[in-house]
Amino acid sequence: MISFQQHFQARNADIILSTFPKSGTTWLKALVFAILNRTRYPLNSDSHPLINSNPHDLVPTLELNIYKKDKCPNLKQFHDPRIFATHAGYSMLPRSILDSSCRIIYICRNPLDQLISAWCFFQKVYQDGVALEKVFELACEGVHNYGPFWDHVLGYWEASLKKPGKILFLKYEDLKRDITSQSKKLADFLGFPFSQEEEQLEVIDDISTLCSFDTMKEMEVNKTSAQNSNYFRNAKVGDWTNYLTPSMAQQFIKVNEEKFKGSGITFEMDC
Ligand code: A3P
Repeated sequence: MISFQQHFQARNADIILSTFPKSGTTWLKALVFAILNRTRYPLNSDSHPLINSNPHDLVPTLELNIYKKDKCPNLKQFHDPRIFATHAGYSMLPRSILDSSCRIIYICRNPLDQLISAWCFFQKVYQDGVALEKVFELACEGVHNYGPFWDHVLGYWEASLKKPGKILFLKYEDLKRDITSQSKKLADFLGFPFSQEEEQLEVIDDISTLCSFDTMKEMEVNKTSAQNSNYFRNAKVGDWTNYLTPSMAQQFIKVNEEKFKGSGITFEMDC
């Protein structure tokens, strides 16, 4: 993270996808890649990069994939517009991201589903065996990867209100509810809106289908690699009800309501 902060030089054309882990990073990477490259890679072709590569291989996460291996990596192989991702909080972003005209897209998810998604992921990937009760207790204090959750979300939320042309703030649940309007929003923000002709040709539907959970989960590249398959669980809004007791949920909702009070952010937590 320190190498990323100190050495990353953003370009004006860069697109930075920023997320709190387990909030829809994989989906956002796929959508942005497909939207930006829709003339370069025909959507119905078997050779589309999203059919042969996991979205995390197409859009690397700066502090985890690029600056972890090398303090000053050579980024020459990335061509404009470069798409990168990060889980860094807004206050931790390198100066060049803030000072340049590069654009940031942030996606967040309701804290109950994020918590369960993260717990399930760590159980599977690291088999760490930490009890949900313990993870829950820590999360109520804001102790988790890249946390506290509320600081992360509020940092980007407030910045998006001040600089709406620079930061697009999205919610996972909105994408689940209406992927068409959210894809249009993404394309407009990226400066590459869908034309009328594209709308008639159902390009937005093709993109949503290609990037949908059901399609991606079943792709060979995501099914056969254990590492890739871990990114796809069940993608349900409200799955927390299968893990948390009503009193745990109430407690977590209360903590979050206090933290987000007055910010204007609300989360859809129900099934
Ligand atoms: P669940 O664990 O609730 O199933 P991230 O990509 O930030 O790691 O977030 C992972 C969550 O997004 C997981 O949620 C995963 O199933 C879901 N997800 C992955 N790909 C998705 C897609 N194409 N559409 C919707 N949700 C997706």
